[in-house]
Amino acid sequence: MRPRVYITRRIPEIGVKILREYCEVVYRDEAPPPTRDELLKMIEDADAIYCTLSETIDRELIDRAEKLRVIGTMSVGVDHIDVDYATEKGIYVVYTPGVLTETVADHTWALLLAAARRIVEGDSCIRRGDWKIPWAPTMMLGYDVYGKVLGIIGLGRIGQAVARRAKGFNMKVLYYDVVRMREVEEELGVEYAPLERLLRESDYVSIHVPLTPETRRLIGERELRLMKRTAILVNTSRGPVIDQRALFRALKEGWIAGAGLDVFEKEPIDPDDPLLKLENVVLTPHIGSASHETRSKMAELTATGIIKVLRGEKPENLFNPEVMKVRPLSEVKIL
Ligand code: GLV
Repeated sequence: MRPRVYITRRIPEIGVKILREYCEVVYRDEAPPPTRDELLKMIEDADAIYCTLSETIDRELIDRAEKLRVIGTMSVGVDHIDVDYATEKGIYVVYTPGVLTETVADHTWALLLAAARRIVEGDSCIRRGDWKIPWAPTMMLGYDVYGKVLGIIGLGRIGQAVARRAKGFNMKVLYYDVVRMREVEEELGVEYAPLERLLRESDYVSIHVPLTPETRRLIGERELRLMKRTAILVNTSRGPVIDQRALFRALKEGWIAGAGLDVFEKEPIDPDDPLLKLENVVLTPHIGSASHETRSKMAELTATGIIKVLRGEKPENLFNPEVMKVRPLSEVKIL
């Protein structure tokens, strides 16, 4: 019998095509994520699940999924999955590292530049019919980017890609990470700085850490107050890394100059959230990796990762290789 794979929501066609070649696919071809009840029901007889970061794969769900061998998530972040418990249960977790790096780095820069040069405010001003006087010497002043200091929190794949782009802007790049990466420092010409120094000295601060108990609320009131009053904060990682209430106060009261945010504590953000009333923040709806090319690559990588596990082969995008000791690939193989 062909293994049963549950795809939780609409994905780029390539992912469905690959899975259909080998598996019986239950495809929930709808844009919104499934409800918790739907998810609990669908996972019951699934050998594999293809999910996204909007579905919480926790203990209850894993316990319900007695046949489950592999979880494929179409994301680089895995904070929505109880990976430790999955590993304990011998369930393989595959994800999408690498393929979205450059796209997220591009988006980070789009937010940084938009916030620095007030692109969205300028666009709205024209559309509202508020551009009433020609070239005005003091109108809508922003901040320079060229030659400034960029502070990168988290120098993983995406942080490094952001740093590479900073070269073109002749920026000094500081980074903070839990591990010092001397080889990368040399290769990219970036300098390690403890978090406090990075916050004090950077004109732009960009966050690229995974969400873990250690990084939750890494940036709160204390950290925001350390930043320059002219600084801009960019977040394309996970919303809960920043204390969003503190950020609102920082932006409203001028502790910092602006922000560019792709991620939020709650997604979608409430339409009446006070952040939406501020002009000095540029907001996008968690679309950091949303290019045609990259989303297709993510779908392909997730699907091929699932198939490899079901064939008893080690996929290159396996997040929890320790699982191989709990349940060797030879026991997972059904294809
Ligand atoms: C997006 O946020 C991802 O984790 O891929």
